[in-house]
Amino acid sequence: MTAAVFPAWRPEFTEQWGRRPACLPHALHENPLFSREALIDLIGRCPPAHYALVNTTRGSAQGRRWREGAIAGVAGARVIAMIGDGSLWLNLRDVGRVDGRYETLLQTAYRELMGHVPGFEARDLKMGILISSPGARVHYHCDLPGQALWQIAGRKRVFVYPAEPPYLRPQALENIAYSGFEFKLEYRPEFDAAARVFELEPGGVLTWPLNAPHRIENHDELNISVTTEHWTEANRRAQRLHMAHAVMRHHLGLAPRSQALEGAAYWAKSLLQAAWRRSPWAERTQKAHRPIEFRLSPDAPEGMLDTAPESR
Ligand SMILES: [Fe+2]
Repeated sequence: MTAAVFPAWRPEFTEQWGRRPACLPHALHENPLFSREALIDLIGRCPPAHYALVNTTRGSAQGRRWREGAIAGVAGARVIAMIGDGSLWLNLRDVGRVDGRYETLLQTAYRELMGHVPGFEARDLKMGILISSPGARVHYHCDLPGQALWQIAGRKRVFVYPAEPPYLRPQALENIAYSGFEFKLEYRPEFDAAARVFELEPGGVLTWPLNAPHRIENHDELNISVTTEHWTEANRRAQRLHMAHAVMRHHLGLAPRSQALEGAAYWAKSLLQAAWRRSPWAERTQKAHRPIEFRLSPDAPEGMLDTAPESR
C-alpha cells in the first residue's frame, strides 16, 4: 500500500511523534480534498453546527473583541476572499461528519501513524479545517485531546511550550475539563525563552506532547490548516481525573492530591465525574456558546452586517 499521508516518514519520527515538539513532512496539502475548489464546495455545504466564523475587531481599551457570525449563503469563494482581506477566521469542525471522504482520509492518516509508532492507539478521531486571515493570532492555550496541526496553505509561526509548571499548571487542565472550553491560560512573555518555535509551511505537520501550551502567529498571508484530534486510553482517563478534581474543588470543597490513573481512588473519581456530567449543573456550566452577532454581506461596509444576537 502506498503511504498517502506520510510518503517521507523517517525512523526518528517514530520516537518524536506525540513525545516532543517536532515538524514532520506530510502530503495532505497535495490531496484534492484540500484544493481551493474542494474547500469552496465544502464551505457551501457546511451546516451551521459544523462551523464557527469569528471576527476579531480592534475594539475599545479592552483590546480585541471576538464576535461569531453566520456565512448566510455567501459563496465559499467569496468567504475565502473575505478572510484573505479581513480579520476573520473560519473553523470547519468535525468535517468527517459533513463529508465522508474527509473521515476516510483521517482514518488513513492515523492508520499510517499507528503503523509507524508502535503502542500509539488513537481513537475518537476528529478533523477540522481552519481558514484564517493574514496576521491572525491564536492566543496561548492548551488542548485536552492529542492534537496535530497540518499546514495546507500560507505560513505561520507556532510557539510550543513545555507541558509543566509554570507554563501549565495542573488546575488549568481541571478548568478546561470542567468548562468544556479552551480556557485562557496565563501567559508571560518570559515563557518564550522555553518555547520551541516553528515556521510552519505547507507540507509540514506539527506534533507535540499532550497538553503542551502553544500559540500561533500567521504570517502576512491567508492560512489554511488542518487540525486533527485524537484520544488514547491514558488521555481519556486523565480527562476524567481533571473533571473529577474540578467537581471536588468547586462543589465539594476538597483539594485533590492524587494524580493516579488507576486504582480505587481513580475509579471513584471516574464515577463522580460521570455522575456530574449527567447533572443539570454540568449542562449549565458547559452551555454558554457565543451568540451569532453578524452575518457576512459582501456589499456592506467591511462585508458584515450586525444582527440581533441570537443563540445557535
Ligand atoms: Fe490548540
